[in-house]
Amino acid sequence: MAKLKVAVLISGRGSNLQALIDDCRAAGAPAEIVLVLCNEPGAAGLARATAAGIPIQVIDHRGFADRAAFDGALDRALAAAGAELVCLAGFMRLLGAGFVARWRDRLINVHPSLLPAFRGLDTHARALAAGVRFAGCTVHFVRPEMDSGPIIVQAAVPVRPEDTAETLAARVLEVEHRIYPLALRLIAAGRVRVDGERVVVAGAIGPPGPSINPQG
Ligand code: GRF
Repeated sequence: MAKLKVAVLISGRGSNLQALIDDCRAAGAPAEIVLVLCNEPGAAGLARATAAGIPIQVIDHRGFADRAAFDGALDRALAAAGAELVCLAGFMRLLGAGFVARWRDRLINVHPSLLPAFRGLDTHARALAAGVRFAGCTVHFVRPEMDSGPIIVQAAVPVRPEDTAETLAARVLEVEHRIYPLALRLIAAGRVRVDGERVVVAGAIGPPGPSINPQG
């Protein structure tokens, strides 16, 4: 079966990109990364793509008059690469409603909280301040409102009394690196359906761990 062609959009270090690269390289992987797009010329993640032999394109948002023009340039690059699915992986630009609508249910993001809790930035410091006992991360389809949209996979981790935002972020990041490839595999295998604002996953997921629950 043809592999799903995926583009990954990054702005920074690209550790989630690396997790996706590694998983797509595994034998029998149902997806391939055809392009890494980045809005920050110096982003460390670009070297990861280059090392893996994946084409990169830097589209610096500062070179565009407005969001629509920037989004249009992204669209053209994605079309030229033949991308069928877009993965946001630490991409720090808000995308316009037009772009999000064009890629509806073909645009996913990883966010370092158990959505709908703690949308936006500084999630780990806010989780600690709120005294929650569990933190985690979410892979979801993107809707125009920031960090919202149908949830594909979530993973929870415990919050420890001695945690700082940094130690909690590191614990959450580890599970981000597990659930982002899992979500991509589920989509690429055709097992994910959006029903209203909820995701239905076909079939059993297997035992990746009790705290990772893409629907039981
Ligand atoms: C991750 O924590 C991701 O959840 C958030 O931004 C961070 C990106 O990290 N959206 P990296 O660039 O993938 O290492």
